Amino acid sequence: MRMRSCLAAPVALVAAVCLLLPAASLAQLQVGFYNTSCPNAEALVRQAVTAAFANNSGVAPGLIRLHFHDCFVRGCDASVLLTVNPAGGPTEREAPPNFPSLRGFEVIDAAKAAVERSCPRTVSCADILAFAARDSVNLTGNTFYQVPAGRRDGRVSNASDALQFLPGPNSTAQNLTDGFGLKGLSTEDMVVLSGSHTIGRSHCDSFLFRNRERLANGTISPAYQALLEALCPPNTSPLTLITTEIDLSTPTVLDNNYYKLLPLNLGLHFSDDQLIRNATLAPFANAFAANETLWKEKFAAAMIKMGNIEVNTGTQGEIRLNCSVVNPGSSAAGIEMLFPAGDATADEVATS
Ligand code: HEM
Ligand SMILES: *[C@@H]1O[C@H](CO)[C@@H](O)[C@H](O)[C@H]1NC(C)=O
Ligand SMILES: *[C@@H]1O[C@H](CO)[C@@H](O)[C@H](O)[C@H]1NC(C)=O
Ligand SMILES: *[C@@H]1O[C@H](CO)[C@@H](O)[C@H](O)[C@H]1NC(C)=O
Ligand SMILES: *[C@@H]1O[C@H](CO)[C@@H](O)[C@H](O)[C@H]1NC(C)=O
Ligand SMILES: *[C@@H]1O[C@H](CO)[C@@H](O)[C@H](O)[C@H]1NC(C)=O
Ligand SMILES: *[C@@H]1O[C@H](CO)[C@@H](O)[C@H](O)[C@H]1NC(C)=O
Ligand SMILES: *[C@@H]1O[C@H](CO)[C@@H](O)[C@H](O)[C@H]1NC(C)=O
Ligand SMILES: *[C@@H]1O[C@H](CO)[C@@H](O)[C@H](O)[C@H]1NC(C)=O
Ligand SMILES: *[C@@H]1O[C@H](CO)[C@@H](O)[C@H](O)[C@H]1NC(C)=O
Ligand SMILES: *[C@@H]1O[C@H](CO)[C@@H](O)[C@H](O)[C@H]1NC(C)=O
Repeated sequence: MRMRSCLAAPVALVAAVCLLLPAASLAQLQVGFYNTSCPNAEALVRQAVTAAFANNSGVAPGLIRLHFHDCFVRGCDASVLLTVNPAGGPTEREAPPNFPSLRGFEVIDAAKAAVERSCPRTVSCADILAFAARDSVNLTGNTFYQVPAGRRDGRVSNASDALQFLPGPNSTAQNLTDGFGLKGLSTEDMVVLSGSHTIGRSHCDSFLFRNRERLANGTISPAYQALLEALCPPNTSPLTLITTEIDLSTPTVLDNNYYKLLPLNLGLHFSDDQLIRNATLAPFANAFAANETLWKEKFAAAMIKMGNIEVNTGTQGEIRLNCSVVNPGSSAAGIEMLFPAGDATADEVATS
């Protein structure tokens, strides 16, 4: 947009105005970003996701959540995939909101391997994750949206950031709205995207204890809580690996049943239940329960919006070669260690 208005302006104005614009404002994600550089990129990702989904349909919710947890922490930069933080310390991936529940990593690795074979050093892990989440929506929800691409991968992954920015199952309406607001997403976007919980699973520790309090004040069905108590051990920890479907009616279909269950006191997490207890949020949840087409349209738009959070573009970041680790020599310290006396540039190291 800004670029076009610059080109249309008289030369003197171009010089005066365009020079004042920060470079980052010119670089935007684009649908078909790999049209010429890697025309098969999206098809290859789709193939990898489809193959993994045929073996285990749980990869679809896994990949959608992986994209969300990537975007909310340091932007959509694939930081959630890193197993090592070059600066040291625990990574996002190891933080309690992500470990051991996050899944789908091996699907991203398979997609990346296929894409690297076809067009080396071209497609970012962050874009692969965004495409894979879209394909997961397509496979479970019979719906489709175009993914603007051109994201570049980050070089930092710090567990503290995940703890700070990822909403937890105990979040109140206010916590949820605030947390999404920090990332530029509206209250409605928050309610819309929570509908992702129409597929996938949850671990006992995410709901058991809080739901005992909900039982006491009548905000969870006693029969449902009895079922959950029977499933889980009486005392769980974050490492208890027992899970249940979040949407007990249609757990593998991306539909609007999630919203229909809430008024029946069948929302699994306290945070899910908040969407109908709070007077600001309830009208959105009720509208989505009443009209699935409406929800799906808004869901696609909100996924695209989420995919734009704090992205690296242009020459920021890097195209990671292996989604689990930053490129060798991509930090100044790394270059110094590998090539003392500066006998190689960052570029030579990264492409060697
Ligand atoms: C609104 C705030 C949110 C909260 C508090 C929240 C919380 C949770 C929790 C506690 C789980 C279960 C984790 C476990 O114990 O295994 C979960 C699962 C899931 N969440 Fe969310 N979530 C939120 C928003 C979102 C958003 C925005 C998305 C995607 C756009 C999303 C997608 C998913 C999916 C697909 C699963 C199932 C994962 C699987 O089956 O592996 N959630 N969420
Ligand atoms: C890629 O091609 C598609 C289909 O022709 C087009 O809609 C899109 O704008 C193109 N994108 C770029 C960045 O060239
Ligand atoms: C198939 O899914 C199971 C988990 O359900 C997993 O352990 C296994 O590695 C998967 N196999 C392939 C080939 O993806
Ligand atoms: C991770 O983030 C925390 C909180 O901002 C900070 O104190 C810590 O130094 C960071 N760790 C690394 C290795 O950068
Ligand atoms: C699923 O995605 C494919 C493209 O990959 C598209 O042709 C198809 O229409 C989508 N399905 C639906 C129901 O939108
Ligand atoms: C929610 O917000 C309150 C008030 O700011 C805060 O004390 C609490 O720790 C937050 N809870 C969660 C689960 O984020
Ligand atoms: C309902 O949620 C909004 C945020 O969306 C918050 O400002 C408001 O305080 C909440 N209402 C109650 C009664 O907690
Ligand atoms: C949620 O609250 C319950 C008590 O109400 C507590 O036992 C549990 O540890 C909390 N979970 C998280 C993830 O904060
Ligand atoms: C039900 O109990 C929970 C305690 O976890 C509380 O936070 C919530 O506001 C209560 N809801 C109602 C409607 O009283
Ligand atoms: C449901 O939402 C769609 C999309 O916004 C709209 O076109 C349609 O009229 C709505 N249906 C009803 C019954 O309100
Ligand atoms: C990517 O890096 C991880 C961690 O070093 C390693 O285990 C894995 O084999 C690498 N994958 C490829 C395709 O090189």
